[in-house]
Amino acid sequence: MIQAPLGTSDILPGELARWRRVEAAAHDLMARFGYQEIRTPMFEFTSLFVRSVGDTTDIVEKEMYTFDAGSTESVTFRPEFTASVVRAYLEHNLHKQRPFQKLYYLGPSFRRERPQKGRSRQFHQFGVEALGSGDPWVDVETILVADAFFAGCGLSGTSIRLNSLGCPECRPRYRDAVRAALEPDRGRLCENCRRRFDRNVFRILDCKAPACHAIAEKVPAIGDSLCDRCRSHDRTVRDGLDASGLKGRWSPDTRLVRGFDYYTKTVYEFTAPNLGSQNAVGGGGRYDNLIAELGGPALGAVGFAIGLERTLIALAAQEKAGETPNDPTVDVYVVTVEPGPVSRAAAFSLATDLRRAGLSVDLDFEDRSMKSQMRTANRFNAAIVCILGPDELARGVVNCKSMSEGTSESIPRGEAAARLPDRVAAARRATPAVASKE
Ligand code: HAM
Repeated sequence: MIQAPLGTSDILPGELARWRRVEAAAHDLMARFGYQEIRTPMFEFTSLFVRSVGDTTDIVEKEMYTFDAGSTESVTFRPEFTASVVRAYLEHNLHKQRPFQKLYYLGPSFRRERPQKGRSRQFHQFGVEALGSGDPWVDVETILVADAFFAGCGLSGTSIRLNSLGCPECRPRYRDAVRAALEPDRGRLCENCRRRFDRNVFRILDCKAPACHAIAEKVPAIGDSLCDRCRSHDRTVRDGLDASGLKGRWSPDTRLVRGFDYYTKTVYEFTAPNLGSQNAVGGGGRYDNLIAELGGPALGAVGFAIGLERTLIALAAQEKAGETPNDPTVDVYVVTVEPGPVSRAAAFSLATDLRRAGLSVDLDFEDRSMKSQMRTANRFNAAIVCILGPDELARGVVNCKSMSEGTSESIPRGEAAARLPDRVAAARRATPAVASKE
């Protein structure tokens, strides 16, 4: 049997109610904060990611799904959205219409990582990019947006780690300080970090290998190396978070470097409990040079992306949720008393009329007993069951049973489509708990 490729997964009907709730929370939130949706292609020219994410990052070095597209340049399935959103912003001259644009997206991203809990090769991100401003209050707004998203999904216990990575003016100073602090222990670093020493020394700071972690403890915090502008930016972000109700929710983390070359100044990450080692549910930061690096004007930008799978895993752990039943909810279930083509044709025709009248309707196609059809009607949360037995068929009526009220009435077949919508509404009113199952 052919199975889905390693690191990918199907989202089955029973899980989709949760997905839709999380997606709806994202769309609602975006309307409240004034962000507009953008959809970009799933693959881009490889050079876009090499130039933006950075050629010495883990993503570009080993995690991209890159393929030869024949006559054109090589292309890559997007490992993230930020680069694509900036490309689209410039390609369509959005910056000329209005330099400051607040955009958001939802969709799959692809990274060839070793799969484990919370880490897959195709995963979904919800993210925002506020393009065209260097104002630190926009950093604060994006953090508030991410926080409101988790609250809107009902996820509690997230925490926020915050750092500043400086700018091209002050970062080289810090890079030298990090190298100088690590130099004596260079030989004791893990193999990956020995390579990183020359190519991408900051990544050593967030290496999970215990030996590297201990060595990285000796590295001075970046705060001392920041230039005045970056320091004042950082101060405003910290004070802004406190003034916006996040006091005590965020903490400074000088080890937070994140895996993208485009970041400048603010970087942050949201973590959630119950996720094991892959506990980052979202992350982002400022990237003041990327718009210019991709051929646009010198405009600042900031954004984040949240992993939807990780959000759902954290929510499920929080709710200690059992199995979600893989059942639809219908207004009416049509039950036949006797098997066979006559009953089936009558049931099918009634279901068709009721569906045309705007009701959600289902019926049996397996010639099951009346008892098991009634059980299905219950599982599907039907408000009304329409029973068609030999007597009803002979008399041209439908026996309509309200599942909540326990009452039955005989309705002429010709009036069923006109009368049942009201009967369904009355039955739903009698059991609000059933009506709000989804
Ligand atoms: P990122 O930290 O690489 O940032 O990804 C954001 C989130 O996507 C992570 O916190 C995590 O929840 C989820 N994620 C990442 N990789 C995987 C994976 N292999 N499996 C499951 N979930 C994953 C970015 O992508 C940046 N573009 C964020 C950003 C936007 N920075 C500025 N603007």
